Amino acid sequence: MDQPDTVNTRSDLAARVVAWQRAGERIGLVPTMGNLHEGHLSLVRALRPQCDRLITSIFVNPLQFGPDEDLERYPRTLEADRKQLAAAGVDLVFAPGVKEIYPRGDQASTVVEVPTELTGQLCGRDRPGHFTGVATVVSKLFNLCRPDVAIFGEKDYQQLLVIRRLVEDLDFPVEVVSGPIVREDDGLAMSSRNHYLDPGERRRAPLLYRTLCELAEGLAAQPDRADALARQAESRLSEAGLEPDYVAVRDARTLGPPGAGPLRVLGAVRLGSTRLIDNVAVRPGAGT
Ligand code: PAF
Repeated sequence: MDQPDTVNTRSDLAARVVAWQRAGERIGLVPTMGNLHEGHLSLVRALRPQCDRLITSIFVNPLQFGPDEDLERYPRTLEADRKQLAAAGVDLVFAPGVKEIYPRGDQASTVVEVPTELTGQLCGRDRPGHFTGVATVVSKLFNLCRPDVAIFGEKDYQQLLVIRRLVEDLDFPVEVVSGPIVREDDGLAMSSRNHYLDPGERRRAPLLYRTLCELAEGLAAQPDRADALARQAESRLSEAGLEPDYVAVRDARTLGPPGAGPLRVLGAVRLGSTRLIDNVAVRPGAGT
């Protein structure tokens, strides 16, 4: 198969989904904004054996971009994406236009807001409205694609927790699974936004991951110095020209302040005009 079937409208999508549901087939969904890389394909491959029918949605969601963000320049590569999805065994690509998802316009649509304890910090503080945009479109994709299971990457760790919370609070009958971050050989987390980096920025970009790893190791050895170690990490990044939006140590399950449970270290930096995010788990006892 050269290209998987592609539908652009909710009615064509519904016809497929209803037939699959009638046949008792388990439907999986990989929501994406396209410009696929190995990170997305790893999610497709992880979900493929867990369902009978696999849908990938490709939709650059205007609602999750702020007014000064990169909505216009976000790379759109539908044909190349479809080829990669065919090779990875996707049954159907759902690639709607903005009007199909937001018939009343994206600013006039009902939205879904996950509580600010989860969405008002970290990326949500730097990108007001972003997680409302994500929660709204993911709710719509769940209602349209009706998946039994959906997968999200751990690269967007806060997004993953926002979606888990959304599913729990609104009783979506969807199992949410996650896939690990896929990295370039030098450690940089794969992201469509890496294309924006010029060669010099690209060389410096892996420092974000290295710094978060060092912070995680330091924390495993000195768990009560979370704040001090995070501030040190921010200084190191900033000295190297990676301007931190934040470096934070959080409870891995709630993003609340670090406590006795598992911890996650998260960071976001600006490198030139590009915003990069990354995160790593803290392994208890590592570094001691
Ligand atoms: O992670 C993404 O690519 C997007 O935020 C998502 C989940 C597809 C919603 O637009």
